[in-house]
Amino acid sequence: MTDVTTGGDPGAAYLIRGVRVVGAEPTDLLLAGGVVAEAGHGLAARGARVVDGDGLVALPGLVDLHTHLREPGREDAETVESGSRAAALGGYTAVCAMANTSPVADTAGVVEQVWRLGREAGLVDVQPIGAVTVGLAGERLAELGAMAESAARVRIFSDDGHCVADPRLMRRALEYVKAFDGVIAQHAEEPRLTEGAQMHEGEVSTRLGLTGWPAVAEEAIIARDVLLAEHVGSRLHVCHLSTAGSVEVLRHAKKRGVRVTAEVTPHHLLLTDERAASYDPVFKVNPPLRTAADVTALRAALVEGIIDIVATDHAPHALEDKECEWAYARPGMLGLETALSVLLDVLGERWDLIAERMSRTPARIAGLAEHGRNPAPGVPANLTLVDPAARRTIDPGEQASRSRNTPYAGLTLPGRIVATFLRGEPTVLDGKAVR
Ligand code: DOR
Ligand code: ZN
Repeated sequence: MTDVTTGGDPGAAYLIRGVRVVGAEPTDLLLAGGVVAEAGHGLAARGARVVDGDGLVALPGLVDLHTHLREPGREDAETVESGSRAAALGGYTAVCAMANTSPVADTAGVVEQVWRLGREAGLVDVQPIGAVTVGLAGERLAELGAMAESAARVRIFSDDGHCVADPRLMRRALEYVKAFDGVIAQHAEEPRLTEGAQMHEGEVSTRLGLTGWPAVAEEAIIARDVLLAEHVGSRLHVCHLSTAGSVEVLRHAKKRGVRVTAEVTPHHLLLTDERAASYDPVFKVNPPLRTAADVTALRAALVEGIIDIVATDHAPHALEDKECEWAYARPGMLGLETALSVLLDVLGERWDLIAERMSRTPARIAGLAEHGRNPAPGVPANLTLVDPAARRTIDPGEQASRSRNTPYAGLTLPGRIVATFLRGEPTVLDGKAVR
């Protein structure tokens, strides 16, 4: 029996001994042929490499519905490969890549390119998101059908980074994707209400003298869009919901049976607008960090299920775009490598809830049938092993991302990803990327 300490072994079978699977007693899991071949006590290794699962929790591989990979165009900030590695290290087996690349992912050609790069990297499944409008300009619908029919089989469309502000275009987009059960993921920000905004509009912005981004700019778009989604009978997903008021709009819509889902980011669950007082641009993000009352409401809504999922909005930025004056810095923060630890910090060891919000539901929204399934015989072996007892201090220099803009630098957070498997092949072992 060999204990796996370093390196992967493509094609090999893996026996994970004595691991806690969510909602069950510790068990052995044999991964072979890309699936969980067997589960049970005292499984024989039969040539499989053995991973000691004692004290570890096996979660279905995490699924991120909102990742910025920056390729094509800003490979200095992130590539599909570096972002995929960051994702695997964070326990992810699938990520949805946002369309605000350069060129924008608004054609079959670009989404196929991103999809192919993801396959070549082979560390997580990269599912491209297509732009709603040409060039994210908010004027003409992009080739949604061609992207849906491409090899990338796009199902989620988003102008994220920008709001689809024109209600007529939003309506048409919802109508268009209804035919193939697609989803419009909206970055909810009424642009006329956020002109020149630098941070959340409230007491802190007044004190600092910075132009505010009012909560109502988000809430007004969500209210409009749930009504449009109801009218059309189509699926709407709300990106990075950030205010207590948005939760109430969503609650109302869900009660009416609107086909709407919503995500919250780890940073909106942990950090508040007080961080802007440091003028450290690492805390600049869109939508901005909100108040402590908003954070409390977002946490409660996530537990209750009004907010369906956690999505990272992993937004890598090159040094020159972040290490400058607050006003000139780009908004966005890294998220993939720290998301699970932040959620453990926020929720505690509520494993079933974490599996639901970070894997099963995002997989269902994105239509990724191979992901988001509890490890059990016959299920694709997409899973991650977490050591809940470990604590780690976040060091930006140790991130696999090409960028360094983590807002958690120096913070000690619970949990460590020990191993991640994609279709039975390890992408992370002993806390290290295999490739
Ligand atoms: O903070 C953000 N950064 N929010 C967005 O909507 C876009 C993202 C980015 O692309 O950097
Ligand atoms: Zn966004």
